[in-house]
Amino acid sequence: MATEKWVFMVTAQTPTNIAVIKYWGKRDEARILPVNDSISVTLDPDHLCTVTTVAVSPAFDRDRMWLNGKEISLSGSRYQNCLREIRSRAGDVEDKEKGITIGKKDWEKLHLHIASHNNFPTAAGLASSAAGFACLVFSLAKLMNVDEDPSHLSAIARQGSGSACRSLFGGFVKWTMGSKEDGSDSVAVQLADEKHWDDLVIIIAVVSSQQKETSSTSGMRESVETSLLLQHRAKEVVPKRILQMEEAIKNRDFASFTQLTCTDSNQFHAVCLDTSPPIFYMNDTSHRIISLVEKWNRSEGTPQVAYTFDAGPNAVLIARNRKVAVQLLQGLLYYFPPKSDTDMKSYVVGDNSILKEAGLDGASGVENLQPPPEIKDNIGSQDQKGEVSYFICTRPGKGPIVLQDQTQALLDPETGLPK
Ligand code: DP6
Repeated sequence: MATEKWVFMVTAQTPTNIAVIKYWGKRDEARILPVNDSISVTLDPDHLCTVTTVAVSPAFDRDRMWLNGKEISLSGSRYQNCLREIRSRAGDVEDKEKGITIGKKDWEKLHLHIASHNNFPTAAGLASSAAGFACLVFSLAKLMNVDEDPSHLSAIARQGSGSACRSLFGGFVKWTMGSKEDGSDSVAVQLADEKHWDDLVIIIAVVSSQQKETSSTSGMRESVETSLLLQHRAKEVVPKRILQMEEAIKNRDFASFTQLTCTDSNQFHAVCLDTSPPIFYMNDTSHRIISLVEKWNRSEGTPQVAYTFDAGPNAVLIARNRKVAVQLLQGLLYYFPPKSDTDMKSYVVGDNSILKEAGLDGASGVENLQPPPEIKDNIGSQDQKGEVSYFICTRPGKGPIVLQDQTQALLDPETGLPK
């Protein structure tokens, strides 16, 4: 290892994911081993992702991390476990151009700087820990020349946050719970890539909430301790649903996909209600959105839209195709219009080219939208201004990538400090 004060760094981007068969409950808290398998859809990182820059330099005197520009502590066991696991697999690194050579053994003595940024507001209650830990592990693996496939890396990301292991792949992903005590077989595998079913359009309603929510980690701990329904779900229900969901994805069978996704989300929230004390993640707005989707699906005869909710009130709606997504957005905007002075392009973000297809990009505003014919009156009239903070339009997306463009790095290449 040379003694000069060089900085060597890597920047990567990792997607977030939404579970369609939920992970809820651990059998081992420290290793983060789940009580059941789960399946997720990776969301397009163009709209929702984490970017992380990791740097190493002999000039650094300790490991440090900045999240969304603010320094945070790395002392927690989740960070420590990920750092230890990845360091123990580090390889030799050589950058001839810069004259840098780092031997396998050197990694134990060298310190790291890590800067991470989400391209969506953390406060929105969207699963930022999934993309965050996946990106931390992926970028460190690239920096340290770790020779492991994404499934092996997923077992490390899992120790940061369970759902993070599924963000190591694009498309449709299964996290197999595994049976080994050390967790080495509790890994994510890709079921199909994002091109396999690219008709799907995903609209996320970021629902306003004043309520301080129970974190997933403590919520699922309380469910494991108190809910009998959780035991039944893990043993009897999920194993069958996983097989059915794998088939539905393989055959692009939207009717089965929707039935399984909605039922599983509802059962997860039933487990939360069955927890003592009960946990309420959904609110009245979430319930109104379920009602709207259920009515529409029923009136069409075949499912058009699937819904799923994680540990918060936000709705993740999966439309069978673009045409359906346009109608869905019109219906949503009819019931949940923006506050009067809101620009439509900041109310519908992500792939907002959909606004044009919905006829909402010009002068003609939401006030001209007609009520969806099947829904008539009983989810409430058009008076829900402000219940939804904004919508994100996205689609199934790709897995982690290294960003080669140095201008996207979050750390200064000379100092290794945040730019
Ligand atoms: C409801 O992965 O956030 O989103 O493993 O304790 O970090 P920890 O929990 P986390 O839980 C996610 C729960 C969920 C369902 C899911 O993503 O499968």
